[in-house]
Amino acid sequence: MDEMIEQSAQGTEEKRNDEKVVKARHLKKSFGEKAVIKDVSFDLSQKENLAIMGKSGTGKSVLIKCLVGLLAPDGGELEVLGYDLMNIAKEEMEKLRWDVGYLFQGGALYDSMTVERNLKFSLRRNPEKKHSEAEINDLVDEVLENVGLINTKRKMPAELSGGMKKRIALARTLIMKPKIMLYDEPTTGLDIITSNEISELMLEMREKYEISSIIITHDIACVEKTADRIMILDDGGVLIDGDAGEVSTNDDKKIRAYFKGE
Ligand SMILES: Nc1ncnc2c1ncn2[C@@H]1O[C@H](COP(=O)(O)OP(=O)(O)OP(=O)(O)O)[C@@H](O)[C@H]1O
Ligand SMILES: [Mg+2]
Repeated sequence: MDEMIEQSAQGTEEKRNDEKVVKARHLKKSFGEKAVIKDVSFDLSQKENLAIMGKSGTGKSVLIKCLVGLLAPDGGELEVLGYDLMNIAKEEMEKLRWDVGYLFQGGALYDSMTVERNLKFSLRRNPEKKHSEAEINDLVDEVLENVGLINTKRKMPAELSGGMKKRIALARTLIMKPKIMLYDEPTTGLDIITSNEISELMLEMREKYEISSIIITHDIACVEKTADRIMILDDGGVLIDGDAGEVSTNDDKKIRAYFKGE
């Protein structure tokens, strides 16, 4: 399966965009008696931006944690970059994790390390890609340039604003050159201008690195800017999954409620 993706990556642009990097079918996940995800199916195509919306507690974060193996689904089928996550060996999961960047809700940096060390930390731990010290320095500069914060290398996280921390957290994930990015509320808590800048960055990085993304967000401006497709989770299932323009203008009262704002 891995090979299939490699091969198609050499094919035409159109062919690449057809490739599904995530396939989820009838996923289920409970915690004790509480069924959080009851029946969720969706695909993510290569280079697609899928926004996932839903009320607080509907299992959005739980769902994307399943995609990186931080949580195991109880049932259903789940394929990520060709790996069958329902039957994956531990070593394969470790490998896959380096290809799936996860910008955590809250996206914390290590407080006791400079920006530069924060960025180098995970890179040095990656046994799949052994970089020389010079390569590591170049990568740090590259991702800091990407997020427009090259001058913060020697700064401590406490010296940065909330928006800057988010960008550095994004840079720290991008430095791994992931094939898939999972953004858990990337703009929450930021002012409109900073939030727009983060959304722009997400679009730029997709073009630059051919990234496929899942974006969990309540921020309608972020959805409008970044999403090709929108899926809304409700009561453990999928309320709607479709083209971003169609979903955001859907007349159904239940769906409208997500786009009306306050
Ligand atoms: N590790 C866990 N153990 C037990 N229950 C959990 C665990 N993780 C999540 N839950 C429960 O699963 C439900 C869904 O949580 P989740 O964090 O996915 O919600 P969410 O949709 O991301 O909400 P929000 O928009 O507030 O971030 C919640 O009721 C939560 O308490
Ligand atoms: Mg969440």
